[in-house]
Amino acid sequence: MAKIKVKTPKEIELIRDAGALAAVTLLRAGEMVKPGVATIEIDDFIGEFTKKNGGISACLGYHGYPRNACISINDVVCHGIPSKDIILKDGDIVNIDITTILSGYHGDTSAMFVVGKPSKDALELVQVTKECLDRGIEVAGTPGVRYSDIGCAIQEIADDYGFGVVEDYCGHGIGRNFHEEPTVFHFRNNFKSARIETGHVFTVEPMINAGKPGVKVLNDKWTAVTKDGSLSAQWEHTIAITKNGAEILTLPR
Ligand code: MF3
Ligand code: CO
Ligand code: CO
Repeated sequence: MAKIKVKTPKEIELIRDAGALAAVTLLRAGEMVKPGVATIEIDDFIGEFTKKNGGISACLGYHGYPRNACISINDVVCHGIPSKDIILKDGDIVNIDITTILSGYHGDTSAMFVVGKPSKDALELVQVTKECLDRGIEVAGTPGVRYSDIGCAIQEIADDYGFGVVEDYCGHGIGRNFHEEPTVFHFRNNFKSARIETGHVFTVEPMINAGKPGVKVLNDKWTAVTKDGSLSAQWEHTIAITKNGAEILTLPR
């Protein structure tokens, strides 16, 4: 297990700057979520807005990824590739995941948006997944806890609703690198994990399925969908551990 980097206050400030741009971009992108809009239109906006504000879309070219951001609809768990052929329609639940590089540091955040009027069940999934994120962050900021405590707390909430916690994709340390140590599991586990310490910066990004946790990746090598066809939701923040607990670095300003 490679070592988890402890970031300086200066580095955390730079990640907060990148995170704020990612968050503002995400809000603006979310305003475009309407019936009839192609996901590539939203992606194009994300790319242009990021550049205009001095940033770089981290996803573009990352391990060959072809677009600026990921836009994942309904049963798509994550890494949905924006396309002119994917058109939003009434009732869809949509995750937009944006990672922005500014001055060499990364900010990574995603949120759910809905098109028109989704079903009650879909809205419940979206809200419970947000609760999972909030609880994960709260636990992360509690003195003395380990990384494994985050997943235990998240799965406790998901279990109450009979929802599945995705195991194939995880949160991650972040900074100069998009993905660095540690891996943050969102499911209940007793893996031997590190203690969460002041100066650690990482994401919490639970993916919760209305059905079973299983996922499969489509032939495009990116798009991950639920195996059972159930809906999936995700929310993500980049956080820093400070002496006052967890601070969210991906807030708009
Ligand atoms: N933003 C995703 C994350 O939260 C990663 C997307 S990688 C990409 O870690 F290549 F698909 F863009
Ligand atoms: Co992300
Ligand atoms: Co992430």
